[in-house]
Amino acid sequence: MEKKYPNLCKPIKIGNTYYRNRMFGAPMGGTDITADCTIGRASTAFYENRAKGGAATVTVSELVVHPETEGSHMFHLDLKTVGALSSFAYTADAIRRHGAIPSVELSHSGQYAGTYLTDKTIKGSLNQWGPSDWTRPDGLEVKALTEKLIQDIVKAYGETAGLAKRAGFEMIMVHGGHGWLINQFLSPYFNHRTDQYGGSLENRGRFAQEVLDNIRNAVGPGFPIEFRLSGSELFEGGYDLDEGIEIAKLLESRIDLLHVSAGTYQRGFGQTHPSMFLPHGSNVYLAAEIKRHVKVPVATVGGLNDPEMMEEIIASGKADIVEMARALLADPKLPKKVMANRADDIVHCLRCFTCMAERAMTATRRCAVNPVIGRELDGMEISPAAVSKKVLVVGGGPGGLQAALTAAQRGHQVILCEKAAQTGGILVSEQAILFKQEMYKLGTTLTKLAQDAGVEIRCNTEVDKEFAAQVNADAIIIAAGSEPIVPAIPGLDNEQVIIVNDYYLKKDQVAETVVILGGGQAGCEAAVHLAMEGKLVQLVEMREELAPDANIRHRPLLLEEIKKQGVVVKTSHRGREVTADGVLCEDQDGNQILVPGKTVIFALGQKPRREVVDTLLDAAPEIATIGDCVKASTITTAIYQGHHAALDL
Ligand SMILES: Cc1cc2nc3c(=O)[nH]c(=O)nc-3n(C[C@H](O)[C@H](O)[C@H](O)COP(=O)(O)O)c2cc1C
Ligand code: SF4
Repeated sequence: MEKKYPNLCKPIKIGNTYYRNRMFGAPMGGTDITADCTIGRASTAFYENRAKGGAATVTVSELVVHPETEGSHMFHLDLKTVGALSSFAYTADAIRRHGAIPSVELSHSGQYAGTYLTDKTIKGSLNQWGPSDWTRPDGLEVKALTEKLIQDIVKAYGETAGLAKRAGFEMIMVHGGHGWLINQFLSPYFNHRTDQYGGSLENRGRFAQEVLDNIRNAVGPGFPIEFRLSGSELFEGGYDLDEGIEIAKLLESRIDLLHVSAGTYQRGFGQTHPSMFLPHGSNVYLAAEIKRHVKVPVATVGGLNDPEMMEEIIASGKADIVEMARALLADPKLPKKVMANRADDIVHCLRCFTCMAERAMTATRRCAVNPVIGRELDGMEISPAAVSKKVLVVGGGPGGLQAALTAAQRGHQVILCEKAAQTGGILVSEQAILFKQEMYKLGTTLTKLAQDAGVEIRCNTEVDKEFAAQVNADAIIIAAGSEPIVPAIPGLDNEQVIIVNDYYLKKDQVAETVVILGGGQAGCEAAVHLAMEGKLVQLVEMREELAPDANIRHRPLLLEEIKKQGVVVKTSHRGREVTADGVLCEDQDGNQILVPGKTVIFALGQKPRREVVDTLLDAAPEIATIGDCVKASTITTAIYQGHHAALDL
């Protein structure tokens, strides 16, 4: 078969190991790390899912090498505890049996140990260790590692690598980027040592070199060692790309693959994990520049999910390998689809950060667009139903589409009715927001997948009791979605007022000055978009803070963008009336203030379409209600509930 993406699909040899393609699975931490520091079964399944999907590697992370100096982690992986070896062996097997190379990331967080955990106080009395003494912005004391401790850590890297190899891992990734310990040593901002580990670049790189030498001694020649480096720290005072190149040159003789990432977790989270506000592939330039200066193969990472773009990166020699994290949660089968010339079937990552936020909230993973993620043990495969049923799905939003897709994959006869002219539901309105194109595309991709699976889609079709009776379905899945809340504010029916959901239809009518009424996530994102379009935007919110409904990873980046784009924010302002000149508001002291703007966009939340549910509740022997029509919520909830309603049939 002639490959549409020949470079992406081409095998590569690194060290003594062959890799089946150029699409590598970037490290992502599992969640059910046990109290005795081993990989839980759920995490093994989490990693196995991506191996099955065709990635060339799956990287288990973050294996802590020296818990004695990383004591503020609540739970961490440690290969030296009793029972750990077998859990690592099971995980390596689970990855290897699907043809992917099992890799494990060896890590030490140094002065940031535990910063991303929800409860940092549990072992708050243990201090953090870094290259130099200082006090972190959150008040925690960091102590400089002694030379003795440095040597202990260096030795621990080697011992851990040896154990990982024994467990069945066939590659080691050394985490030398993102602000963790090796990066802290490399950084002129954090490393103020005056001994052989500080000062000149060679001295700052000594720790990394010793770590790599010890790992090499433990794993032997030819065993692939990948080094993850931030090509630039991307903040003032940190090392820049020029120094990144020198670091790469310093280390290349000791490694088999240089993985060039970007920035730091603490000072550039939205660049290290490129947010939806950045273009795809925003960090590729770092890898491309470094690649010009080294002979070792180079990998790039960050916001990559489009096969066309990834093919071009390799074809043009910017990198030899592309690595993906979130894209392989959204669609673990992405590599298989690329290899089979089925790129149109890829479900793309939205860069919404639900996956990362969920860990902080519930200590699990979830993915907005993939209902299986973080719940792999509940079943990854869709098995055929014992009896094929006639299923009517009411509503073609994300939840309805997912329900229809899963039901059809199980062999049911599925009719999906959507009252609008096109499927997608609330996602349709995202098409006009520059940085939310992937949300719009989610609707079109799910529609295609559902149709390919045999779902009959009927648009412009409203389902009432009579219609349902005619269809005579065995089961109805009601996914009727939600509608905008329209409060009793005088003037909301004025001509210059646009509901945020209708913005895509009326965007040409938007004047140069805009007031957005409602500072939840939808209002904030509309504000950012309009400001990017060059409009003068004022954002009015009656609560004290913006976007409390946004997840904890996306929210800070959204707020940062609001600031960056110059949106004028009026919190604690209650909209009282829309006039021809703007919105008359009342502030917290009861003062009347006119917030001027020629167009008013309101984004005051959504409410369930409960009446559709009530009408259809007894319209078939089996009824399920899912998504926004139950409770206005998220894409994540709609897709998860849709998938499971279909599995329950
Ligand atoms: C859920 C999740 C968990 C992650 N965990 C780790 C980790 O444990 N170690 C690490 O080095 N990077 C981790 N990362 C960062 C990714 O490896 C990757 O560098 C980053 O997400 C950018 O790639 P992407 O845009 O393809 O997601 C994680 C990313 C995500 C989304
Ligand atoms: S949760 Fe959102 S950001 Fe994370 S992988 Fe899924 S779609 Fe992408």
